[in-house]
Amino acid sequence: MIVGSGGREHAIAASVAKSPKVDKIYCAPGNAGIGQIAECVPIGAMEFEKLAQFALENEVGLVIVGMDDPLVGGLVDVLEAKGLRVFGPRKNAAILEGSKAFSKDLMKKYHIPTAAYETFDDAKKALSYLEGAKFPIVLKADGLALGKGVLICNTLEEAKEGVRTIMTDKKFGSAGNRMVIEEFLTGREVSVLSFVDGKTIRIMTSAQDHKRAQDGDQGLNTGGMGTFSPSPFYTKEVDEFCRKYIYQPTVDAMAKEGRPFCGVIFFGLMLTADGPKVLEYNARFGDPEAQVVLPRMKNDLVEVCEACVDGTLDQVDLVFEDNAAVCVVLASDGYPVSYEKGYVIHGLEKFDGADGYYCFHAGTKRTEDGYVTNGGRVLGVTAKGKDLKQARANAYAAAEWVDFGNKYMRHDIGKAIDEA
Ligand SMILES: Nc1ncnc2c1ncn2[C@@H]1O[C@H](COP(=O)(O)OP(=O)(O)O)[C@@H](O)[C@H]1O
Ligand SMILES: [Mg+2]
Repeated sequence: MIVGSGGREHAIAASVAKSPKVDKIYCAPGNAGIGQIAECVPIGAMEFEKLAQFALENEVGLVIVGMDDPLVGGLVDVLEAKGLRVFGPRKNAAILEGSKAFSKDLMKKYHIPTAAYETFDDAKKALSYLEGAKFPIVLKADGLALGKGVLICNTLEEAKEGVRTIMTDKKFGSAGNRMVIEEFLTGREVSVLSFVDGKTIRIMTSAQDHKRAQDGDQGLNTGGMGTFSPSPFYTKEVDEFCRKYIYQPTVDAMAKEGRPFCGVIFFGLMLTADGPKVLEYNARFGDPEAQVVLPRMKNDLVEVCEACVDGTLDQVDLVFEDNAAVCVVLASDGYPVSYEKGYVIHGLEKFDGADGYYCFHAGTKRTEDGYVTNGGRVLGVTAKGKDLKQARANAYAAAEWVDFGNKYMRHDIGKAIDEA
């Protein structure tokens, strides 16, 4: 059983479906696309007791939790208490994502490279700290804020306004009860996903996402407009540094703190002139990253997840295809502000049997007229290719297979690779 309802869960379901160990997949609550390969059950990701009851009644052998909210809220603990096998961190480990103040303090304590910072639980103190600060500066709401709780402020005025937004006006709710103010870093961003069994960590191939709505990384932040994998900026040298100073040290730090981490750790890295630094951790697959990383993974995903649950990940070697993948998100025009829904989606059948091409659903709905749009991010179109250039050409060709009324996409996903 997979818990979640986005493109990430569709990508997880597609990988799980390839496993010979699996004869039935449930997804709660799932979406229209996931419904093609799994049985979607109408239980919300935050309905812990109902999820547990359903899993017990249907003899679910493994639960994979895809989303951040239920992980941070303790779904894994609830399911484990009923004797279920669950892939994902317990509440006391998901805090790695659930509290930015926690993760910064952890990094400081264990000398894991990250931006210099201070934490505040009082707006007044934060405001007076800003008076002597260097700009630009980065403000982060402590808790989960749907990827919107980070403000990059160029001036003192902007930063003061930001502190008020987060801590006084509580724009992100209780996520803003505390905040982190940190040094602004410059460099290339890279996302690295990993599997962790509490002690051992296995690194997946790298990826990079495009969060801004418009070409040239302009416009508002979104849940992600596209991704590519691998990142050409993630060199062997960077990998060696991160293995030594970031990945294993993070896993060891969590174990030392009595918070062993089982599941996926997502490392958001900035490759600065002073070396790689951690921007943030997530406690699960990134949504757009999963859509380019999982299609390239040769391992049986279920076997890897079970090794994490059983603490035998040291016996697993991850193997990725020697190629590249690009995912272009097809969105509703106007996203992330306001947009219309309910347009019929044409052309989805072109993906049937198209080897190396995937169409992951996010905001879709099944109606009498077929699939219709039902969200801001509608579909993730992924294509593989022998290298990034080819994968990008393939993905943009496949993006034209599909059409709907207010279809919008960026046209420069993976373009940064031309500079590499
Ligand atoms: N210290 C920093 N310096 C420069 N940019 C940053 C810094 N921290 C975060 N960012 C930018 O803000 C984005 C969001 O921050 P992140 O810490 O990943 O939080 P979240 O994903 O929860 O919003 C990052 O992807 C990065 O582009
Ligand atoms: Mg992030």
